[in-house]
Amino acid sequence: MDIQEVRQRIQNKEARIGIIGLGYVGLPLLIEFSKAGFPVAGFDVDQVKIDQLTLGKSYIRHIPSLTIKEHLTDNQKFFATTDFSRTQECHALLICVPTPLTAHRDPDLSYVLNTGSQIAPYLQQGQLVTLESTTYPGTTEDELIPVLEAGSNLKAGRDFFVAYSPEREDPNNKDFSTATIPKVVGGIDDVSLQVATDLYQSVICELVPVSNCRTAEAAKLMENIFRCVNIALVNELKVVFSAMEIDVWEVIRAASTKPFGFMPFYPGPGLGGHCIPIDPFYLTWKAKEYDISSRFIELAGEVNTSMPSYVIQRTMLALNRNSKPLQGSRILLLGLAYKKNVDDDRESPTYAIWKQLLEHGAIVSYHDPYCPVVRPSREHKQFAGITSVEAGDIHADNFDAAIITTGHDCIDHDALVEQLPIVIDTRGVCSPAANVFQA
Ligand SMILES: NC(=O)c1ccc[n+]([C@@H]2O[C@H](COP(=O)([O-])OP(=O)(O)OC[C@H]3O[C@@H](n4cnc5c(N)ncnc54)[C@H](O)[C@@H]3O)[C@@H](O)[C@H]2O)c1
Repeated sequence: MDIQEVRQRIQNKEARIGIIGLGYVGLPLLIEFSKAGFPVAGFDVDQVKIDQLTLGKSYIRHIPSLTIKEHLTDNQKFFATTDFSRTQECHALLICVPTPLTAHRDPDLSYVLNTGSQIAPYLQQGQLVTLESTTYPGTTEDELIPVLEAGSNLKAGRDFFVAYSPEREDPNNKDFSTATIPKVVGGIDDVSLQVATDLYQSVICELVPVSNCRTAEAAKLMENIFRCVNIALVNELKVVFSAMEIDVWEVIRAASTKPFGFMPFYPGPGLGGHCIPIDPFYLTWKAKEYDISSRFIELAGEVNTSMPSYVIQRTMLALNRNSKPLQGSRILLLGLAYKKNVDDDRESPTYAIWKQLLEHGAIVSYHDPYCPVVRPSREHKQFAGITSVEAGDIHADNFDAAIITTGHDCIDHDALVEQLPIVIDTRGVCSPAANVFQA
């Protein structure tokens, strides 16, 4: 394997970049390499996604179809396929598949390992394989490499290069995109790090090379644990301040004026999305192997998962003021997405609130312009196919209370407050009013 030849190919942008897993992380990365002039290939097990890309259609709300058409479909140097034998046509393979938790809340590496098995038979001398999925320290070297080596009869470091580079994508963040977010990279050895750095620096503004894959894996977990713990803290403070009749949102605004040593985090109805509710438990699980219990992370998890119950409690109190029990009340959930302005409902706390409301005998509907219908999922089978109520139907004749669970900018929440008897605001988006209750 001639390292100079590999590096030259990347520098000349002749290396074909294959992205495996074309979701929220993989698709923007694919577009970025294509924009930079590399030949690109997209791989996914989901035929629907492959068909959409081939037709120039986007399946992610904040990525316009025009971008797909311009940078992928109309590009002669692009193809998308479910045929993993075509990974042998690529010089670099970047893995962006899911890393969820199992039903018992242990790391589920099956997607990463399946990807390893799918590409191993076609692995080529001189190829670079980079894992981008969030995971615990040791995954790349102890889990992925053995699968790649066993299925290929090639040796990592000698025959092919391996690196770990965590994704920091923040979907729909207008200030930062894949290309402008500094990227941490760790290799299994100096040469792998060099090749990975060559590749990423062609599309990313700033690279942060670290000593090894474990450090890069740990850095990503640290970032997300930091968020999880601080969100738990602010959620706890919300409950305390609420009992003291202090507006937590005003407190945060005031505290945020300190020009150093403070960073605002915001309370909410619980954690959502594919990262913050899940990633910290990858470390908790791994720490047990070292006889260490990560109590801080567990506690943060407990506080955050108790938030939907707190919202229910606040809803009951608010209804009580109108002499109404929760049982039989018609409740509207305003937002299915886990955060504002996106269409991603994975791990959304709205579902936990929905389930608890039903357990209390409430009649529940939802409104979310970005999630017009509940998609089928393993976790919330019972809700699949339910559709969002029309905006025009949101008024006092139809609902006894609404709970603002997401806070999309496209919804005029203050206007809804005028239409509804009670509004429970978990996102701090409503102006104060007699019928608005923070939760
Ligand atoms: N979504 C985010 O904001 C974000 C941010 C940073 C890091 N991450 C991490 O990035 C990884 C991917 O997350 P995502 O949000 O893009 O997930 P996603 O579910 O949006 O996309 C994953 C894609 O992988 C495909 N896939 C599953 N198994 C496959 C296989 N064996 N071979 C090929 N494709 C396969 C799925 O069909 C899907 O299209 C996760 O580890 C996540 O924690 C996500």
